Amino acid sequence: MGILDWILVAIRWVHALAAVAWVGGSMFYALVLRPVWRRSNPGQEVSRAVGTEFRSVVTSAMAVLLISGTVLTVSRLTSKGATLPYVAVLVVKILLAVYMFYTVWVWHRPSKASDPDVAEGRWRRARRRLAGTNAVLITGVVVFGLADVLDALFERGLAR
Ligand code: HEM
Repeated sequence: MGILDWILVAIRWVHALAAVAWVGGSMFYALVLRPVWRRSNPGQEVSRAVGTEFRSVVTSAMAVLLISGTVLTVSRLTSKGATLPYVAVLVVKILLAVYMFYTVWVWHRPSKASDPDVAEGRWRRARRRLAGTNAVLITGVVVFGLADVLDALFERGLAR
């Protein structure tokens, strides 16, 4: 294995870690924090602070996924493992990733009104965010599965 192969290993590692941080973090949010908060409301200050911290995790994860994903794509597409089915699944995976990036961007779009909670209504805003978190989580789970499909297709392409 040459130095470039080791660099690719490191890039895969970073890509997988960022994916785990985002999707795993969202699972924790949906499966642990949300039910606990439904039972005992932590108050706005705590829930806002958790939201702010997690958002910065997600923002970093998105940047890492985009950069490392681009390198992985170039490396995979220049190999004989990249068959037509491989490319088709990769396109779907990237489109779903773009949908996730877009959804995160939409939730945190600054509102034009001076007080967004009053302008949109606290409930509608909360519901929109909830729908956004769930959509991102479910899509992330699907993207994880597609990454495994890609791995299998690539191996099969190499073995031809
Ligand atoms: C929503 C964000 C994303 C998630 C959750 C995600 C998740 C993953 C996971 C879990 C892997 C497997 C890593 C491993 O086993 O070492 C992977 C591989 C990969 N990802 Fe992503 N990814 C995301 C975004 C992207 C983007 C934006 C690109 C391209 C620009 C990309 C391109 C790739 C490629 C080419 C592979 C290698 C697939 C193979 O095994 O042939 N990913 N991704």
